[in-house]
Amino acid sequence: MKNQGRYDYNRYSYNNASSQNVYIRSNVRKKKSKKPLIAVISVIFLLTAATAAFVMLDGMSLIFPKNDDNSVSALWLEETKTKHVSFNDEKYESSSKSADKYFINYPLTKIDEIDAEINSETEYLAKCANASSARFTTYDYITETADNKYLSVVFNSTEYDEDKNVVGKDVFTMFFDINAKKQMKMDDVFKSNFYSYASEYVIKYFNNNTDTKKLTSSESFKSATTADKLHFEKFSINDKFCTFYFNQKNLFGKGDKIYDVSISLGEISSYLNISLSGAEVSSNSGESPNIRNYIDPDKPMIALTFDDGPHYTNTEKILDVLKQNDSCATFFVVGDNAEAYPEILKDISDAGCQIGNHTKNHKDLTNLTDDEIKQEVDYVDKIVKKATGSPTTIIRPPYGAYDKNVQKVLNKTPLIFWDIDTEDWLTLNAKKTIDAVMDQTSDGEIILLHDIHDSTAKAAETFIPRLRAEGYQLVTIEELIYYKGINIKGGETYPW
Ligand code: NI
Repeated sequence: MKNQGRYDYNRYSYNNASSQNVYIRSNVRKKKSKKPLIAVISVIFLLTAATAAFVMLDGMSLIFPKNDDNSVSALWLEETKTKHVSFNDEKYESSSKSADKYFINYPLTKIDEIDAEINSETEYLAKCANASSARFTTYDYITETADNKYLSVVFNSTEYDEDKNVVGKDVFTMFFDINAKKQMKMDDVFKSNFYSYASEYVIKYFNNNTDTKKLTSSESFKSATTADKLHFEKFSINDKFCTFYFNQKNLFGKGDKIYDVSISLGEISSYLNISLSGAEVSSNSGESPNIRNYIDPDKPMIALTFDDGPHYTNTEKILDVLKQNDSCATFFVVGDNAEAYPEILKDISDAGCQIGNHTKNHKDLTNLTDDEIKQEVDYVDKIVKKATGSPTTIIRPPYGAYDKNVQKVLNKTPLIFWDIDTEDWLTLNAKKTIDAVMDQTSDGEIILLHDIHDSTAKAAETFIPRLRAEGYQLVTIEELIYYKGINIKGGETYPW
C-alpha cells in the first residue's frame, strides 16, 4: 500500500532474504516458550535466593566450582537457548548435556539404534565446541518426520564470545529410516542426477531474493552452489518439503545467518530414491472454465499480477488495455479496497481475469496467530465470493512474508509470489516501470505490479501492447499453472 511502500519493502527483504525458516522457527519458539521461560526464570530466582540464604547462613563464599554444570547453566541460562522448546508437533522427548564450553539439547527417540547415532553426533558436536575459539556453543534442534517413516534431526548451533555476543551459527542434520532403525546416506535418498537440479533451483532462489541477488556473482557463491552433493548434505524432509540448509558465511564469505531453502516433494519426486506420499503427483481434475483454450503452450507466456487494489480508476484502465490486447492478468486484492469496489471485482472476473487474495489488512502474516491468519484471508474471500460468485483460489501473503506455520494454516490454497519485482511502488515512474517489465521478462514468469498507482496504469498502456508485439501471451496465474504443467498444492509456494 502506498504510504507503507518503503517500509513494506524492507519488511519483505527482511523476511525473505535474512530470515528463512530457522529464524522464523526461533520466533515461534519464543512465543510458545513464554510460560516455560517464566517458570524457568522463577526457578532460577528461587534457587539463587535459596543459595544466597544458604551462603549467608553458612558463611561460605559464593564461588561455583569450575567445570561444573551449574556454573555453566548460571552463566548461560539467561540466553534461554539452553531450554529446548518443541516446534510444531515434535513427538520425541528432549534431553541435554553440558560442559564448560557447550550446552546441547538433543532428542530421545527411545529407539536404541537411532539414539546411539544421535548420541555419537552430540559427542561430535561437543568436540566441535571444545575445539572452537568461541567461548560457548549452544545446540538446539528440531525434528521432522515424513510419512512417519523417516526422521530428520536438525541441530542449530550458536557460538558466543566471552561477552555473549553471537559469533557464529551453523546447522548439522541427520536423516533416519525409522523402521530400519538406521541413518540414511544421501545416495539412499537422492538420485545422482538430483544435484544439478538442486544447484539450479538454489541459484535461482538466491537470485530472486532481494537481499542476496547482488551477491550471487561472487566466486564464493558460485563455488558453494555447484552440482556437488556435498553442497546439499544438510537437509531435512517432512510430509511436504525437502529443506536444504546453507550457512551465509559459506555462501557469501561472511555473516552468520542460516538460510533454508524448501522444495516441495512433488517437485522433486522423480529425483528421490525413497517413496513419500507428499511426492505423489496429483492428477489435474478437469479443465477449469476460466482457462482459455486458445493459449498455445509452445509459445511464451507470462502472468502479470497487480496487487493492493482494486483502485477506483486505475484497475478499470488496466482492464481496458488487457481487453484490447486479448490478454488477462491476476489481481491480488486487499480487504478495504475490495469492500469499497465490488463492481470492479465483478468487472475483473467478467474480463476473464483472476482475483487472488492479498488479505484484509495487508499485515505480515508471520506475526499473526493462526486464527488471525484465517480471518485475514476469509474476510477477502467472502467479499470476492459475494461480488463474483466464486471465492479466491490463490493467496499472495503481504510483503511476500510467510513461514511454515503460515503454510500450515493456509494449507488449502497455494501461495503465489513472483519472479520479477518491477519496483513500480518505489519508482512511481511510468517509464521506469515499462523498462522494468520489458527488460526483465521471460517466458513462464510472474511479474509483480500494483494497480493502485497511476504510474503503473499509465505504464500498462505501453508495456501490455509491447509484450504482445514481442509474442508473449498474457495469462492468469491459473492459466500459467495449467499450461506450464506446474504441480502446486494447498500451502505450497510458487515460484519460490
Ligand atoms: Ni501488497
